[in-house]
Amino acid sequence: MDKLKIEGGHSLKGEIEISGAKNAALPILCACLLTQELLELENVPHLQDVETMLKILEHMGVGCFREKQKVSLNAAGLNNPYAAYQWVKTMRASILTLGPLLARYGEAKVSLPGGCAIGARPVDQHIKGLEAMGAEIHLEEGYIIARAKRLKGARIFTDMVTVTGTENLMMAAVLAEGETVIENAAREPEIVDLANLLIQMGAQINGAGTDIIRIEGVKTLHGARYAIMPDRIETGTYLCAAAITGGDVFLRRARNTILDIVLDKLLDAGCTIHLENAGIHLKAPPRLKAVSLRTAPYPAFPTDMQAQFMALNAVAEGVATIRETIFENRFMHAVELMRLGADIQIDGANATVHGVARLLGASVMATDLRASASLVIAALKAEGETTIERIYHLDRGYEQMEQKLSALGAQIKRVR
Ligand code: EPU
Repeated sequence: MDKLKIEGGHSLKGEIEISGAKNAALPILCACLLTQELLELENVPHLQDVETMLKILEHMGVGCFREKQKVSLNAAGLNNPYAAYQWVKTMRASILTLGPLLARYGEAKVSLPGGCAIGARPVDQHIKGLEAMGAEIHLEEGYIIARAKRLKGARIFTDMVTVTGTENLMMAAVLAEGETVIENAAREPEIVDLANLLIQMGAQINGAGTDIIRIEGVKTLHGARYAIMPDRIETGTYLCAAAITGGDVFLRRARNTILDIVLDKLLDAGCTIHLENAGIHLKAPPRLKAVSLRTAPYPAFPTDMQAQFMALNAVAEGVATIRETIFENRFMHAVELMRLGADIQIDGANATVHGVARLLGASVMATDLRASASLVIAALKAEGETTIERIYHLDRGYEQMEQKLSALGAQIKRVR
């Protein structure tokens, strides 16, 4: 298994480009299932999760062709509406095939994802919404077996805000008969990106980006060419990496309008930020100030940036409190940060971080994607060498992370 070795203490300086967003790419790839025509996607990041999704789609009979950041998909030959446990257990986003398969093919067999490192993460809201649209669903031997002649528009109120749940229901509703209203919908920018693609394919969607999405079903959708939005969590992660090292970086293609609260927190921490059309420039002070935060659905502070800010707070001046409200087990990075010398107390969904003057390199273990990113950030600051094991998590969600950090002057290498 690959490891990363990082020698800390080098200030990040320079310019890199932000990749396409993982969490927009995954639902958008699944949207190919909704049409017989060609979907041409640009700015698709090279990530393990994207490769897994392409394998699932190919297995279903979709023609997939990739050239660098461009992916062409043709689901005219869709003949096997089946997502096996073997894939779903490695990537929960596989559940995003369920809505589009039902909408266009009328049946689907998709493995239940089960729990994962950050929480139980059930998919009951996806199922409840599809049932409201008339799908017959039962669970058998760990699989969701779903059928529907043609889905019917419905009013759906989700019990909690769910990102992939909203995406799945939106993709189901675009081909349903009549109007679907999704209330308590997630407002994440990735939902808007998916809606923009679907609209380009001929769907009628209003309100994406608000908590009420109205969809008037159409009979068929056509092909489209679409460029995936830049990754806001990758952007936030590199801003944190620059911030902790007292760096000065420019992130090309970073979009500031979808990062408001993250940028606010970095300003509170003492960073100087310039927003430009071409990207975001950040200059960090010699020592950051502690910043408290509470995660919640967009536009509040993203749970996917919580771990990275814990790393910043570990060496900031002062005390920060962090409250995680989305996932029940998303503090696994705290104990690993403590191996580097961080002073963190965990009490249920709350963490208290007392900033220390220095971290010292050690061996640590990555537990999930964003936890791994927080360990990389802390390692860039820690004195001496840090070895991070199980970095396959990073490969799921960060395109060319070592290359990008090296380009900014980090001392980082992958050991195979
Ligand atoms: N939930 C339910 N039932 C459901 C759906 C969700 O109880 O049917 C609960 C979850 O257990 C969780 C909360 O609702 O406590 C919110 O979960 P959500 O469904 O919004 O999460 P998700 O759609 O599975 C996406 C991202 C995650 C990100 C979350 C929250 C993708 C592919 N994944 O997951 O991204 O953390 O939204 O913003 O979009 C990551 O990129 O590292 C990552 C984990």
